[in-house]
Amino acid sequence: MPQFGEEFLTELRNRCDIVSIVSRYVDLKKRSSSFVGLCPFHNEKTPSFHVHPAKQMFYCFGCHAGGDVITFIMKSENLTYPEAVHFLADSVGLHVPKTTAIDSEISSLRKKIFEMNRVAARYFHDTLMSDAGKPGLEYLQKRALTPQSIVRFGLGYAPESWDSLIKYMRSQGYTDNDLKSAGLVSVSEQSGKDTSSRTRIFDKFRNRVMFPIIDYRNNIIGFGGRTLADDPAKYLNSPENIVFRKGENLYAINYARTNKLGALILVEGYMDVIALHQAGFNSAVATLGTALTPAQARLMKRFTDKIIICYDSDAAGKNATRRAIEILKNVDLDVKVVTVTGGKDPDEFIKAYGADKFRALLDGSSNDIEYKLGEITFKYNLEIDSEKAACVREYLGVIAGIKNRVEREVYIDKIARETGLTKENLTAELDTLIRRKVAEEKKNEEKKVYTSLSGTGNGYLSRKNISVSRAEGDVISLILNFPQKLDEIEKLISPDDFLTDFNKRVYTVLCEKLRENPSSQPHLMLSSLFEPDEVGVLMGYITEVGAFSVDGEEVRAVADRLKAEKKKKEAAGAISDTGFQQYLEDLKKKGK
Ligand code: GTP
Ligand code: MN
Repeated sequence: MPQFGEEFLTELRNRCDIVSIVSRYVDLKKRSSSFVGLCPFHNEKTPSFHVHPAKQMFYCFGCHAGGDVITFIMKSENLTYPEAVHFLADSVGLHVPKTTAIDSEISSLRKKIFEMNRVAARYFHDTLMSDAGKPGLEYLQKRALTPQSIVRFGLGYAPESWDSLIKYMRSQGYTDNDLKSAGLVSVSEQSGKDTSSRTRIFDKFRNRVMFPIIDYRNNIIGFGGRTLADDPAKYLNSPENIVFRKGENLYAINYARTNKLGALILVEGYMDVIALHQAGFNSAVATLGTALTPAQARLMKRFTDKIIICYDSDAAGKNATRRAIEILKNVDLDVKVVTVTGGKDPDEFIKAYGADKFRALLDGSSNDIEYKLGEITFKYNLEIDSEKAACVREYLGVIAGIKNRVEREVYIDKIARETGLTKENLTAELDTLIRRKVAEEKKNEEKKVYTSLSGTGNGYLSRKNISVSRAEGDVISLILNFPQKLDEIEKLISPDDFLTDFNKRVYTVLCEKLRENPSSQPHLMLSSLFEPDEVGVLMGYITEVGAFSVDGEEVRAVADRLKAEKKKKEAAGAISDTGFQQYLEDLKKKGK
């Protein structure tokens, strides 16, 4: 991870008070020494998101997100650490000093890939417009794209050839290695006569119409290519690399972000997007050939509060709609759903019925709850008593998920009318359901702490090992709260006293950084040293486990507890991380 100068970071933190930055995103209320609000990182009804001005840290007791102002921006704006630093610096007009060699190496590779993609996009586009591009152009015309759309989206054609792009890029001064890192070529192993094997590169995209994928900052980050033959891979995407992350970008977000409609229209495919834009719906975006991710939902949230999902009307589209609703609701987006009728997807619909009919669909779109209820109604025959009961149960399951009481009542009314059951009965049933749901959520939440811990390398950490986790967490809280005691702590505790890989790594890294830089405030270094999820876990140690309360005089006691825990585990013949791995392997084998 690149390092910004300590002085600069201090200046940045002085100017970016965490309470005022977080207030831009969350409605905070003062409560004794901290501020609380509804967590922006998960869906909740009662506030469990805390900001501590004194520590300049935040922590959510619900989803265990936590960290300093930089982590907060990384998570909210979906940025990397250096991007978040730049984002904050920009927002307060602070100049970012030149960074280190490694950092500039990475950023120059990024720049180079952007540049190569631009050169390649231009090549594909020029080819499309030349004689060699005839198959591509005819195809796009057949699909009713106008010349304006072709230019606006920078569409192109990759000819049926193994090396036409390679030759062109070489002529522009790019090396084969450059081409590989941009993912514009594929690599094949070839075994020669002398049994030595050589690698050879060839054009990745052949006989395909090309869709440049552009991020919201107008960089070309990769390509999608649609085959003109009947290649089993109908669409092919650039491979993931340091600039192209399928799950974090949306096709056409560069145009849609400045839309006038207010809502983003989420569709499945490149062609749907272009057809919609061509018909005047400039706010259409699509995922890049994979299911919608939380990162993409957060990206949308930066530009709008409203999403209209308009997926294909087939079974796959319906499943995807259901999943997308959950993901979008989770970042508090207002969701509506449009079902296209009389055509598989929005592209076909527009072609068959025109823009006005599509606008009518948008106007008549149902909200997420209506959509889900409608899907349920569709499955059952309400004339049959047993089906009616099952149907009502599913209805209530959906309604139990609504935060607002009045809104719940509206739907209860509606169901009462539809089914002829009394409102009282429905409400009583709903209350039971909600109680059960709350209890279940709480249990899941607890489970999540442990899985999130194991996700960061704890391996075997489970409820049974909570005392180990406590002891290790206390050591880490100790270091974070009393860095001046480093010598004493290190004398008594070695990294090998830790049972879990994650905590051991944290301990090692923190000791090392503190020795390098004894005057720094370690809790403010976390965002530069660990991933946001990991920072959340560490914040959990100091707020939940240690509650900022490990006593500085307690070093020996904490060390003793840690060693005692380790002894106990060793005596029980249990676990080192490797032992646990072995245990898992054994379980797997047994299962088979
Ligand atoms: P057209 O046939 O060109 O109209 O495509 P479509 O948009 O109707 O295609 P479909 O609904 O099959 O796919 C929607 C989106 O899924 C596409 O735009 C692609 O992003 C992605 N996709 C479809 N097929 C493939 C594939 O074979 N591989 C990959 N990686 N993505 C695909
Ligand atoms: Mn289609």
